[in-house]
Amino acid sequence: MMKLIFLGPPGAGKGTQAAIVSKKLGIPTISTGDMLRAAVKEGTEVGKQAKSFMDAGKLVPDSVIIGIVAERVAKEDCAKGYILDGVPRTIAQAQALEDAGILFDHVISIETADEVVTQRLSGRRVCPQCGAPYHVTNNPPKAEGICDACGHELIQRKDDSADTIASRLEVYHAETEPLKEFYQKRDLLRLVADEGSIEDINGRIMAILEM
Ligand code: AP5
Repeated sequence: MMKLIFLGPPGAGKGTQAAIVSKKLGIPTISTGDMLRAAVKEGTEVGKQAKSFMDAGKLVPDSVIIGIVAERVAKEDCAKGYILDGVPRTIAQAQALEDAGILFDHVISIETADEVVTQRLSGRRVCPQCGAPYHVTNNPPKAEGICDACGHELIQRKDDSADTIASRLEVYHAETEPLKEFYQKRDLLRLVADEGSIEDINGRIMAILEM
């Protein structure tokens, strides 16, 4: 049983690393960002509540997030563990998970500078079908504009515009970064330097997990 949280600013590579670690450990990744984008696309009640916050680069209210995560981690495929990608994102979310008895083995914080975030997100392309992330130069798909995993056409996320990236970074520093102290106090925080290739960073994460 391995339960992990991937923390870090937007564009740190949480989704990229979570996809690799998921495959290696055979456990699912739960990305609230992907779940919310699917809800927006399907026009569900949660999607309607979330859309305006996401488009503005603001956080979706904690009450919405806590409900969808609690429901998801109770599913059968989470029995052997899971990776939370992009959640918790506020102290209230972290506290709610803890209060529900959901505890973790490691909280992996990818330490990415703000300037790098801007470069990463402006070149990011994603698969709207399966959520796989690519980058036009750092991590291109085999065929331009097409998802390697499922063959769907790639898109640029609406919140990857310059103004919205700035707002997301501000929200990260104000609301999410304090989680590092929250988990440091519980001796769960593992800092991972964002240096080198995606494989280099993955090597550092795997070394932590094999401790
Ligand atoms: P979410 O989808 O979670 O977005 P985010 O946290 O802003 O993170 P990103 O998905 O942008 O980045 P990432 O770290 O996964 O990086 P990636 O691997 O793609 O959330 C979106 C919105 O939903 C939020 O703004 C909010 O409104 C709402 N939301 C979601 N969860 C919420 C919650 N819990 N509470 C409240 N609201 C919530 O990599 C980025 C790019 O860089 C890619 O192109 C990749 O190929 C490339 N790359 C990755 N690693 C490297 C590397 N080492 N070197 C070079 N390139 C790299």
